[in-house]
Amino acid sequence: MKRDLISIGDLSREEILAIFRLARELKEKRREGKKHELLPGFILAMIFEKPSLRTRVTFETGIEELGGHGIYLAPADIQLGKRESVGDVARNLSRWVHLIMARTFAHQTIIDLARAATIPVINGLSDEEHPCQVLGDLFTISEKVGDLGGTKIAWVGDGNNVCNSLILGTALLGLELRVATPEGYEPKAEIIKRAEELGRPPRLFHDPEPAVVGADFIYTDVWTSMGREEEAEKRRKVFAPFQVNRDLLAHAPDHCRVMHCLPAHRGEEITDEVIDSKSSIVLDQAENRLHIQKGLMVWLSRPSGP
Ligand code: CP
Ligand code: NVA
Repeated sequence: MKRDLISIGDLSREEILAIFRLARELKEKRREGKKHELLPGFILAMIFEKPSLRTRVTFETGIEELGGHGIYLAPADIQLGKRESVGDVARNLSRWVHLIMARTFAHQTIIDLARAATIPVINGLSDEEHPCQVLGDLFTISEKVGDLGGTKIAWVGDGNNVCNSLILGTALLGLELRVATPEGYEPKAEIIKRAEELGRPPRLFHDPEPAVVGADFIYTDVWTSMGREEEAEKRRKVFAPFQVNRDLLAHAPDHCRVMHCLPAHRGEEITDEVIDSKSSIVLDQAENRLHIQKGLMVWLSRPSGP
């Protein structure tokens, strides 16, 4: 049966670790300059309703390095659900290509694509989740700490799509997560409930300082996600106390590293001084998007299934 990656919660702990192993092998091969064309002739359709740098370039580079090819479908190209229904797009693509990656506004669009497609569908960010980002981030954390058990992460800012995936990913892998958001900007209740069922709900805070005490990693993201631009001005005011700056870092241990999925709005959720400091691992996160998604594409495409 085909598998999709709609939510990071679609994966088990063992499956995430299997994807990490593949990513590690592929990263090593690339570093050694060895060919690793595990998906020869595979075609990946990349549907974008929103802009992207990292997701587009890492998926396109990744599939080419695996011996396949990526087709970029810009928002205006297919006008998902307007020119043609989501189901019809999925059914047509399933006759021509081997994998679909989609970045959408509504999370339901990814679910509808996956339901109608006979090939794997990967969520490249929706309003609710960003599973590829968080797979790459947890892989990055594992490279830094070795054993993930006992690692503490503090999320500071908006309870958004990246935060939702981080809640599920950390619950699955057994990391400790604190989430500090302004009141009214907490992560989705359903996601917290799912993390409770997994036995590791995040601790919620409305003040960033206590959340970062003892944290091994502080993670932040833009205050205004794509699609919510009309709220930007209001959010700049509400989120001001949640900026990741030198003062906030002073409450965390010296070894604490700073994460951001990027793009960053420098001077808003994070200062230049912090994002450019030696504590920052944002470029390691960005690099690992390439390796983890190559691992994911191979894992989803194995002839005998994952
Ligand atoms: N982090 C991330 O997904 O970046 P892009 O929006 O540039 O793809
Ligand atoms: N939360 C951000 C992530 C961008 C990669 C957004 O959805 O715009």
